[in-house]
Amino acid sequence: MAHPAPQALRSPLQRALSLLRPSPVSERTPIARGADASSAHARGIELADRAPDREARQHPEGFICLESVSKVYPGRHGGPAVAALDGVDLSVARGEIVGVIGRSGAGKSTLIRLVNGLEKPTSGRVVVDGIDVGALDERALGPARRSIGMIFQHFNLLSSRTVFDNVALPLEILGADRAGIRRRVEPLLDMVGLADKRDRYPAELSGGQKQRVGIARALATEPKVLLSDEATSALDPETTASILDLLAGIQRELGLTILMITHEMAVIRRIAHRVAVIDGGRIVEQGTVADVFAAPSHATTRSFLGAETGRSVPAWIAERLQQAPVEGGKAVLRIVFRGEHATDPVLSQLSRELGIDVNILSGSIERIAGQPFGILLVALPGGAEALARATGFLADRELHTEVIGHVR
Ligand SMILES: Nc1ncnc2c1ncn2[C@@H]1O[C@H](COP(=O)(O)OP(=O)(O)OP(=O)(O)O)[C@@H](O)[C@H]1O
Ligand SMILES: [Mg+2]
Repeated sequence: MAHPAPQALRSPLQRALSLLRPSPVSERTPIARGADASSAHARGIELADRAPDREARQHPEGFICLESVSKVYPGRHGGPAVAALDGVDLSVARGEIVGVIGRSGAGKSTLIRLVNGLEKPTSGRVVVDGIDVGALDERALGPARRSIGMIFQHFNLLSSRTVFDNVALPLEILGADRAGIRRRVEPLLDMVGLADKRDRYPAELSGGQKQRVGIARALATEPKVLLSDEATSALDPETTASILDLLAGIQRELGLTILMITHEMAVIRRIAHRVAVIDGGRIVEQGTVADVFAAPSHATTRSFLGAETGRSVPAWIAERLQQAPVEGGKAVLRIVFRGEHATDPVLSQLSRELGIDVNILSGSIERIAGQPFGILLVALPGGAEALARATGFLADRELHTEVIGHVR
């Protein structure tokens, strides 16, 4: 029996994405290189020209790079100036998803607006794909912005346009012809699962569907970078998860670089490879998501992580927790199990080899950044000497442990 064609085995997302992958120049008819190419070129329009090896060699340090970036907004009506960003260094590698998390007013939107050139840094450099975005004038910014897609918290769709026409808008602005627009927009609508809604208006869509239109529109001009400013903040948790999974799938298939800002750790946990924590205009902590979740060093990060499952200390333990060791009591340890160690029977080994009985107080195992990630709270009897032996035993197995207090 003949094997089914590979196409038949693919998911709708993969089929749609295969139509959207950059094709050789000779096959690329629609937008800037098709019938309208000459007029598009005459206006300085260039489509994303992906040559990963060459570009990766040219910019090994990061595809998006903020170097000592500060942004001060002048005061209004004699008021004080606002330092929205202060000496920010941030680097996002090609094909990476980096999440920036911070409270309201921390400077997140300012950071994104610097990357897409809507704001200029007061000092420092913002480089995207080798181009110093902060140094470009308005004319030169146009083509640079087209290689950057953007999605927004409130979707920013035009209410008088259908789904199809909202997605088509950036291509119309580029001067693409109707056939070229159709060739681009239809697979995009398939990809975001809205092919059957193409003639609907935004008012007829749910929040999640509106954001899917926003994503399709952001990808219309084949950007290399996708910026997301709280794109899931207006959505319920289930819809948030489906939008994040869609973004992760698109990122994997198209090799996009994604910089997303959020105030929700759940967003970071689901999709980001690395996280930067911003507080008062400064990056106070950054690292891989798993590292930061395992051992947050800054108070702001800890407070963001506080509500995460497994991190919060159950109330019945918190009430009894004391800072100083208690005579005849137990030390309370938080142990983080990661990756290959997540399912090791470490506690039973510890009991057996050290002769220390461990009480498990609470625990959870989930996936963070695609890896198993478990947190256990345990109580350990035996005073300082037993505690030192146990923490040594756990450190030898490269587990992160932290004494969070003592109980009677
Ligand atoms: N155009 C502007 N002029 C003057 N001050 C501004 C301007 N834009 C932002 N700010 C100030 O800069 C600081 C950072 O603002 P920003 O919008 O970047 O914060 P944010 O982290 O995005 O907050 P939120 O989570 O509430 O959206 C705030 O104190 C804000 O008031
Ligand atoms: Mg904001």
